[in-house]
Amino acid sequence: MLYGRSREREQLAELVRGAGAGRSFAVLVEGPAGIGKSVLLAEAVAQAPADASVLRTAGFEAEAGIPYGALSELLAPALHLLDGLPEAQRAALAGALALERALPRDRFAVPAAVLGLLGLAADERPLLVVVDDVHWLDPASREAVLFAAQRIDAEGVGIVLAARDSDGGPVAAPSVERLGLEPLARADALALLRDGAPLADDVAEALLRVSAGNPLALRELPRALSAAQRTGQAPLSGPPASGGRVEAAFERQLAQLPATTRAALCLLAAGAGSPPEAIERALAAVGADGDALAPARAAGLLVERDGGLAFRHPLLTAAAYHAAPSGERRTAHRALAAALGDVQHRAWQLSGAAFGPDEEAAAALRAAGEEARERGAHAEAARAFGRAAELSREPTARAALELEAARDHAVAGHGERALELARRAAESDDAAVRAGAEHLRAHVLMRGGDPLEAVGALRSLAARAAARGDRAASARYLLEASFAHMYRGEMAELSELAAQARAQAEGVSPELAMAAGVAEGEALIALGRSREGDALLSGAEPLLHEFDPLSDLAELVGMAAMASLWIERFERVERIAGRMIAIAREAGAVGRLPFPLGVRSQLHWRRGRWAAAYADAEEAVRLARETGQTGTLALTLAALTRAEAGIGRLEEARAHGEEGVALAEVAAGAATVLHSLAALGFAELTAGRAEAAAAVLARADAIDRGLPLGEPALTMYAPDLVEALVRAGRREEAARALARLEEGADRTAGAWSDAVAARGRLLLAEEADVERIGAEALLAHGLVEMPFERARTELLLGERLRRARRRAAARERLERALATFDRLGAEPWASRARTELRATGAAAGAPARAVTPVEELTPHELQVALLVAEGRTNREVGAALFLSAKTIEHHLSAIYRKLGLRSRTQLAAMLAGETG
Ligand SMILES: Nc1ncnc2c1ncn2[C@@H]1O[C@H](COP(=O)(O)OP(=O)(O)OP(=O)(O)O)[C@@H](O)[C@H]1O
Ligand SMILES: [Mg+2]
Repeated sequence: MLYGRSREREQLAELVRGAGAGRSFAVLVEGPAGIGKSVLLAEAVAQAPADASVLRTAGFEAEAGIPYGALSELLAPALHLLDGLPEAQRAALAGALALERALPRDRFAVPAAVLGLLGLAADERPLLVVVDDVHWLDPASREAVLFAAQRIDAEGVGIVLAARDSDGGPVAAPSVERLGLEPLARADALALLRDGAPLADDVAEALLRVSAGNPLALRELPRALSAAQRTGQAPLSGPPASGGRVEAAFERQLAQLPATTRAALCLLAAGAGSPPEAIERALAAVGADGDALAPARAAGLLVERDGGLAFRHPLLTAAAYHAAPSGERRTAHRALAAALGDVQHRAWQLSGAAFGPDEEAAAALRAAGEEARERGAHAEAARAFGRAAELSREPTARAALELEAARDHAVAGHGERALELARRAAESDDAAVRAGAEHLRAHVLMRGGDPLEAVGALRSLAARAAARGDRAASARYLLEASFAHMYRGEMAELSELAAQARAQAEGVSPELAMAAGVAEGEALIALGRSREGDALLSGAEPLLHEFDPLSDLAELVGMAAMASLWIERFERVERIAGRMIAIAREAGAVGRLPFPLGVRSQLHWRRGRWAAAYADAEEAVRLARETGQTGTLALTLAALTRAEAGIGRLEEARAHGEEGVALAEVAAGAATVLHSLAALGFAELTAGRAEAAAAVLARADAIDRGLPLGEPALTMYAPDLVEALVRAGRREEAARALARLEEGADRTAGAWSDAVAARGRLLLAEEADVERIGAEALLAHGLVEMPFERARTELLLGERLRRARRRAAARERLERALATFDRLGAEPWASRARTELRATGAAAGAPARAVTPVEELTPHELQVALLVAEGRTNREVGAALFLSAKTIEHHLSAIYRKLGLRSRTQLAAMLAGETG
């Protein structure tokens, strides 16, 4: 009988009904131990429609991290659907669940595959996914479950999670709805208290006080009382010396059982998460026959669950384990180890059985660590290696294991743990382990802590490698060190280190030499030495077009795509970014997508495919957020800001721009701050706030002077600064900003900077020069495919011509500008052009345009529409966006409705300009 909780039950019932009707939901039930989360989950299951399938699992408290243990259990009933997944995802999931040997290519491949599988299951019939005790899930399963919970959409999947808010760290799932459970109200609490047996009033009052509305306490405390205590004839005992009151109540209940029963219970607790047959065998091995557990069943401490016996409550499991003497616990673990076949469970049982150093257990844990690593479960691998190190007697072996543990901690994103273990491993007497530890430490510092310290460490590793004649290793260290400068936007330092790396690699490793050339080329381009930089990138074409986008070099190649963008090598950008995106989608490598998507968004933006630019930027930002990549998030927010501002989503643009600036200031280098400010300034200018734009862009200018970046196209802020200053009536400052822009334009080979420098001159020109300068600008625009930039120049030229009373010429320019703005969906700019046109006396009043996708569709719908327009099936689109085919279908019908279309062909025709 459940007391109270009517609101929560109704809420869950409503959600579950909705899922049956195709409305997905995910909810996380939260609260302290014993507050009633598990019973609420049971209620949700009871509410599920009769034809629904229910997948469920629960975490349990253990030292072990069995890789994908919970996920295996959860997905067992749905494995027949595996073959319906895209091959790369299928293989990743099969490998993770140890159904076959397959190395997941990326950390997010498995979560993406899980989401796909749930979508397939929901295509068959309503689906309810129930995961209890999420705080105790093995980390790999937890990541997959939370990823799915945050991304379910129109699949008709219901996900109900429960977690203690006090144990195991907070459950990070920002977009999942939370349902917090409060203590029971007094009347309900009293009813629950009296549910078992009658209690005297003052006894009930006393228990009510100590229970504080916690159902578990309300239920268990009366059971631990003697009959005389219940009626108030004997005093209640004082507070327990240690542990909570409920734990003490459990301990008292356990203490009343025979010793053989307690030993059997200890084994049962030690075996949590193991297959029931293995537990049976282990019980038999320690001589606990079928009757040993009977008294515990009779006392109601055990319940039947999933074909085996389980404790009534997790706190009871813990109590049964900890109540046993340590020798008895080790005996239990040893028996379980002997009864268990699989590498993971056996290793962790041996660990529990160990008393001091234990080579057998260490060897088993090492094997478990290797297996976990192979399946992509790095947190679990790190735990196994770490425990193996603790159990090793021999210092050299121990240090080697510490290094292995540190490596997996680093991959799993536990920087602090990785550094700590690497520090210990660095004390090894084995030179190779020492070097490995130093290298790892630098690797972690580079990404999380202190890039400049990492540079120092890598430089000294490089010097030592060079001294012993290992030029390839030396080149690799130097190249890696140069990355720190790449992240921080220190281009002079980047080019210097990359040149050193290239010199070391020359003749010993063509691939490394090429990679170093790419790094150096990027730096030179950013510094404004575009011809030299471009030559280096051209020399590395094989690397740029054939590299593995999931390898360590991906970042470097992604940067090469970005640098190519600055120097107007648009075809190269398209090829590199397109390939990175395609391969990452295929492999489910979610975390590898934000950067190339952000680059491609900027490319589309420049080439005038604004719907595509917006869709890419929005997806890039969402995925960078979900995968916690702060620096990339700032960069992609800048792309999104520009895209949104351009199409007139001015509020969003400003919010994203400000968020990007704030983020870059705390978490990224000066170059990223500059990028973010440039985008925000463009948004302000577009919104017609010249003063605000000038202020933001002046900040960008100050940073640029400090760096300095010699390539104006890198951040594109300079012409916007000139325009903002002119519009704000600050012509002298504008002239100074223009002079700097002109210097940059002279330095580099790009046509854009020539064109926008001319546009700046046009703004400040005497009336007599307008036409000549306008022609110069348009000539330069003719050399690079950037329609928006050209239209902006035409707009300004039209404005100036109109003021010079050259109406016909003005009108012609303005009409061309307007046509481009309209085609792009550049609403704020189009409206400016329209106003100007009207002032020339033209009748450009009513916007007689058809609906445009970018105005009508949500970003998500836009992404779907673009992929469909490229000719993909719903399933292919689903796989690309990590959504189910059903969700795609759902979006597609909304897209047709909003755009008044009836077929894929019509959609493709409408988006033809965007898909290139
Ligand atoms: N509203 C209620 N009415 C009656 N009994 C309840 C209620 N809520 C919980 N209980 C009982 O209290 C005990 C604890 O509840 P439950 O196991 O659901 O807690 P929990 O929040 O899952 O705790 P844990 O975090 O330890 O798993 C159970 O025996 C359950 O049956
Ligand atoms: Mg529970």
